[in-house]
Amino acid sequence: MTDKHFKLVNPETDKSVDIPLHEGSVGPAVLDIASLYKEHGVFTYDPGFGATASCKSSITYIDGEQGILLYRGYPVEQLAEKSSFIEVSYLLLHGELPTKEQLQRFNQQIVYHTMINESLLRFFHGFHYDAHPMAMLSSVVSSLSAFYHGSTNIHEPEDRDLFATRIIAKIPTIAAAAYKHSIGQPFIYPRNDLGYCENLLRMFFAVPAEEYEVDPVAAEALDLLFILHADHEQNASTSTVRLAGSAGTNPYAAIAAGIATLWGPAHGGANEAVLKMLDEIGSVENIDKYIAKAKDRNDPFRLMGFGHRVYKNYDPRAKIIREMCHKVLKKLGKEDDPQLELAMRLEEIALKDEYFVEKKLYPNVDFYSGIIYKALGIPVSMFTVMFAIARTVGWVAHWQEMISDPATRIGRPRQLYTGATRRDYVDLDKR
Ligand code: ACO
Repeated sequence: MTDKHFKLVNPETDKSVDIPLHEGSVGPAVLDIASLYKEHGVFTYDPGFGATASCKSSITYIDGEQGILLYRGYPVEQLAEKSSFIEVSYLLLHGELPTKEQLQRFNQQIVYHTMINESLLRFFHGFHYDAHPMAMLSSVVSSLSAFYHGSTNIHEPEDRDLFATRIIAKIPTIAAAAYKHSIGQPFIYPRNDLGYCENLLRMFFAVPAEEYEVDPVAAEALDLLFILHADHEQNASTSTVRLAGSAGTNPYAAIAAGIATLWGPAHGGANEAVLKMLDEIGSVENIDKYIAKAKDRNDPFRLMGFGHRVYKNYDPRAKIIREMCHKVLKKLGKEDDPQLELAMRLEEIALKDEYFVEKKLYPNVDFYSGIIYKALGIPVSMFTVMFAIARTVGWVAHWQEMISDPATRIGRPRQLYTGATRRDYVDLDKR
């Protein structure tokens, strides 16, 4: 892989350690420390994995300094303009853009698997009406492992492909069922003559009592949001899916673990948190007060939708979503949305503020996505569910890459132990 090396010198013993350096196709090289413990008895320490590459991957590339995001080499801006979510899904899973026939076949396979077992639908009755949809989504997706356990051999490429098709096809159906359960409406079955996002909107908003026509503007906006959310290399939820999957667990259960991770407000839960924050700020006059709160180290308040572990520049997805926000709201006749105006003023003020400039805190993908979801009629509690539907494709692509790599071993980090050293047990009556 490489013949370059780094040399680390131990000043106490003056012994030097040779560390191989591996270079990828683009981006920072990595130090291969796999034999460091075996040969030199030390671990490396990197809480939050800020400087640790956990795997090799050829799916997605991010340059956080330049604000670049590539799926299989293609800039996300080009895919957002010219592609569709289904085509991007094929690209992420298979590595190349599909031919017309391949795309048609892939789409047909997804459509064919959109229905879920009726018994699975009954799971929703076990949840109170106000259960958070992310809790329902992760539980019900995890339950899929019970339906497809014996039949899913992760060492069989055909079974892996079937798992990929099933989960991508069924997750909108499960998400819509969670929504219908939360508002007490009957479940709407999927329709095979509709596109992925059209079908999703229909399952969300149709009722059996009347005809429902999907708004093409809404379907197009959702498709674009899904493209932008489809993958983001080794983020917290994807790393969770890989880690769970590395133990050889049922892949539906691994995806459920990813959904649980995405729910966190520091990750995918931020789109929901942004709208709640905008509600709390209320009006433009209060922005300065909240900016001051965000800067105050003693105040836990953070500007939601701002900052990113990797992007130290404008998140390229946020740029696209910001533009799209105006177009979609205009087309839907909602361009005077006061929350959009508030978000734009907040962004403008934050981007000029020394604290945000110095820390390179820019709007991330979640800053504007919630405003679009809201304009499409999606309730705030469902925002992260929407993100999970799109990100399922990325999770599956990474799970496939991990499980089919012969070098994969169970993920098992080490630690720096800081607890008590060995001591003897003291009987209860002597404590
Ligand atoms: N508001 C105010 N200050 C912030 C913010 C923010 N949104 N984000 C980071 N900072 C500050 C931190 O307090 C820290 O300051 P310090 O150096 O004085 O201690 C510094 O900027 C660096 O931030 P970290 O938290 O160390 O950066 P990290 O990479 O660990 O966290 C994260 C990134 C979680 C995204 C963070 O920026 C954040 O909490 N943002 C708000 C939540 C959010 O929008 N999450 C969505 C991320 S995108 C996604 O997952 C889809």
